[in-house]
Amino acid sequence: MGPTHIRIFDTTLRDGEQSPGCSMNLKEKLRMALQLERLGVDVVEAGFPVASEGDFEAVQAIAKTLRLPIVAGLCRALPADIDRAWEALKDAVHPRIHTFLATSDIHLEHKLRMTRSEAMAMAIAGVHYARSLCSDVEFSAEDATRTDPEYLCEVVEAVIREGATTINIPDTVGYTTPAEYSHLICTLMDTVPNIQQAIISVHCHNDLGLAVANSLAAIEAGARQVECTVNGIGERAGNAALEEIVMALKVRQDRLPYSTGIHSPEISRSSQLLANITGVHPQPNKAIVGKNAFAHESGIHQHGVLRNRATYEIMTPESVGVKVQHIVLGKHSGRAALAQRFSEMGYELAKPELEKAYKLFTKLCDVKKEVFEEDLTAILRDGLSDIPEAWKLRLAQVTAGTQGYSHALVSLKPHSENEEEEQSGTGHGDGPVAALVDAIAGLTGVRGEVLDFQVRAVSQGSDAVGEVFMKVEIDGCILTGKAASTDIIEGAARAYLYAVNKALHTQQLKAVYV
Ligand code: KIV
Ligand code: ZN
Repeated sequence: MGPTHIRIFDTTLRDGEQSPGCSMNLKEKLRMALQLERLGVDVVEAGFPVASEGDFEAVQAIAKTLRLPIVAGLCRALPADIDRAWEALKDAVHPRIHTFLATSDIHLEHKLRMTRSEAMAMAIAGVHYARSLCSDVEFSAEDATRTDPEYLCEVVEAVIREGATTINIPDTVGYTTPAEYSHLICTLMDTVPNIQQAIISVHCHNDLGLAVANSLAAIEAGARQVECTVNGIGERAGNAALEEIVMALKVRQDRLPYSTGIHSPEISRSSQLLANITGVHPQPNKAIVGKNAFAHESGIHQHGVLRNRATYEIMTPESVGVKVQHIVLGKHSGRAALAQRFSEMGYELAKPELEKAYKLFTKLCDVKKEVFEEDLTAILRDGLSDIPEAWKLRLAQVTAGTQGYSHALVSLKPHSENEEEEQSGTGHGDGPVAALVDAIAGLTGVRGEVLDFQVRAVSQGSDAVGEVFMKVEIDGCILTGKAASTDIIEGAARAYLYAVNKALHTQQLKAVYV
């Protein structure tokens, strides 16, 4: 790696996952991690192993699966935390222990109730112990931008002496400004005698909307690793957005002559995968990955773009993997054509997955004239659900209107050998979704409260596939349900049923393990 190479450290699965509504289960994290590998990130921060059993298992699974990137696990500078992180990471091809400790007086006094010298000793001991387990150790001085710079330099020098290979200078609360941050990085470069033995990393939160600008300023000052998340998800206002940093470096090579290992045409797919897993979609005007990022609305702009795209486009949609929608397949396409198309979109399907996807595809062709790539991706995501279906939807019918209650008739097939077995029931409520939920609860015996309900058209036209996303509280647990369908009533019923099946599956697992 040359002196101008910038390492991209992705923390979508750790800092990003900490943001409200963005939690993911193990399979979802693994799928996202594989996409990050394909995107070409240098480091995947997979989680915080000591935080929960689920986090531990996810870090372990990711560590065992990824081949190319470094896999990092976060831990406080405590022996038990470090041990847990190492236990999860030790099978990785390239493991990294990422240990952190706050260094600002406000954190030391009010959160850790520690003196500066106690924190110094703890940081030294933590890094020393982590290095005895793993040759790649990152140390983060939490709240570095509100830390006394002189003390920060002392801590950095000490942990490099103990063997830290990367030093992270987080702007934990999104407080700094580009010039101030740049100055801090320069101070570290000029003052810490052994600084050349480590890579300086930056990690910016977006509370003042400056996370990307601050990260770029730090790169210009000498930082060679940037910590960021896909779609900029993260605590509070989020973290620096990976796609914005990468494309700023790519598009403004004249001012920012740095390289990354990111394969930018994978950006759009990474963004969409994350949004579909979490149900949190970037706002339409979000740079690079928003729905409108490449849309030209005004007549003057459209005219200019038609003559020469460069009049109003500083990068092509293709450079970030955004494709102009086109018809891909029709009613008469067979399994081979479908498999080929999925493969072009980057999904290699095993036989049973292809079979499932093909069934959904033919159903879709019956109701939709044109099938777009987005429709296919949506049915694929729907078809690859990994939750066993204790109940399957056979029929959902709703009568609803502006006056009075809505009524639903639902038929479900319970999991059994008998293909013909079916149970039907009715329900009512103050809207179509409430009526469906009431009917499904009557049949399955699982009653949940819908906390969030979203429908999103994935392609164009009134017959577009709609993705339905639901958050449901069942027995004190918040579960997400999702489904894709051209019919929102069917989609809503299936999304709710997905959450019910998840709840039943969890109950079953508990019965086995408890
Ligand atoms: O924002 C922060 O300081 C962090 C550290 C744990 C790296 O996320
Ligand atoms: Zn953070």
